[in-house]
Amino acid sequence: MRVIVTGATGRTGGEVAREVAERGHELVPVSREPAGTVAGADLRPAEDLPALLDAEGTVLIDFTVPVASADYIAQAAEAGTPAVIGTTGFDSEGTAALDAAAESIPLLKAANFARGVQALLNVVREAATALPGYDVELTETHHNGKRDAPSGTAKTLLDALDDARDEALDRTHGREGEDPREPGQVGVHVRRAGDVRGEHELMFADNDEVLTLAHRAESRGVFAAGAVDAAEWLPGHEAGWYEFGDVIGDGGD
Ligand SMILES: NC(=O)c1ccc[n+]([C@@H]2O[C@H](COP(=O)([O-])OP(=O)(O)OC[C@H]3O[C@@H](n4cnc5c(N)ncnc54)[C@H](OP(=O)(O)O)[C@@H]3O)[C@@H](O)[C@H]2O)c1
Repeated sequence: MRVIVTGATGRTGGEVAREVAERGHELVPVSREPAGTVAGADLRPAEDLPALLDAEGTVLIDFTVPVASADYIAQAAEAGTPAVIGTTGFDSEGTAALDAAAESIPLLKAANFARGVQALLNVVREAATALPGYDVELTETHHNGKRDAPSGTAKTLLDALDDARDEALDRTHGREGEDPREPGQVGVHVRRAGDVRGEHELMFADNDEVLTLAHRAESRGVFAAGAVDAAEWLPGHEAGWYEFGDVIGDGGD
C-alpha cells in the first residue's frame, strides 16, 4: 500500500510515518516546508499533493491542523483517495468541508486512535446508564504544545455521556470565585504541561461513592498504530463516514 502522511514533520505525524515504514508500506511524507527525510523517505512539498494523490492503491493519513486538514482532505476527495483523519478541533466550517468530502471518498476520523479509549467510551456509556443523576467531572491533560481545548477525545467522551444520559449536560469549563455546582452540569478541566501524551479521567460521584474511569497514552506510537490500522482497513469501503470502532469491530488489526 502507498501511504501519504500530511503533517509528517509533526509530533504525531512523524510517529505515523515511522509506523507506515516499519509495516513495509510505501511512505510519502508531505510537508509545507519539505527539507530532509522522515522515516527514510524524502519529504514532498504540500503543493505537489494533487499529483501525489493521483495514484492507485493510495491512502492519506492526516495529523495537522483543521484548516490544513480540510484543504488536504478536499484534495483527496478530488482524487478519489480514501483518507484517515487524526486532526482534532474542527469548527462547523471545517466539519462541513469534511462532510462534503465524505460524499465521494471513504473518510475515517477519530479523535483518539488508542484502542483503550475505544474501550473507555463503551465503559463510560455503561457507567452513565447505571449511575443516573451522579455528578460527572472530566479532567484531561496534554503536552504544552496542544492547540485545541478541551481535547477532541474529551468532547467525544462527553458526547458519549450525553447520548447515554439522553440529555445534553451543561459543559462547565473550570470554576472560579462563587460558582457552586448546578444540576445538569458536567465540569470540564484542562491541563497543559510538559510532554504528556494524553490523559483523560471521568469521575462519577454520588451516594457516598466515587467511580473513576481513566486512560493514559504512554507514547504517541499508540495513536500511530491505530491510525495505520485504520488506513489498512479503509480502502475498498463505500464513500462515507467511518469510525475507529468500525476497524476494531471488524477485527481490523
Ligand atoms: N486522533 C488521535 O489519536 C490524535 C493523537 C495525537 C494528536 N492528535 C491531533 O493531531 C493533530 C496534530 O498534533 P501534533 O501534536 O502532532 O501537532 P504538531 O506536532 O504541531 O504537528 C502538526 C503538523 O501539521 C503541519 N501543518 C500543516 N499546516 C499547518 C498549519 N497551517 N499550521 C501548523 N501546522 C501545520 C505541520 O507540518 P508541516 O509544517 O511540515 O507541513 C506540523 O508538523 C492535532 O489536531 C492533535 O490534536 C490526534
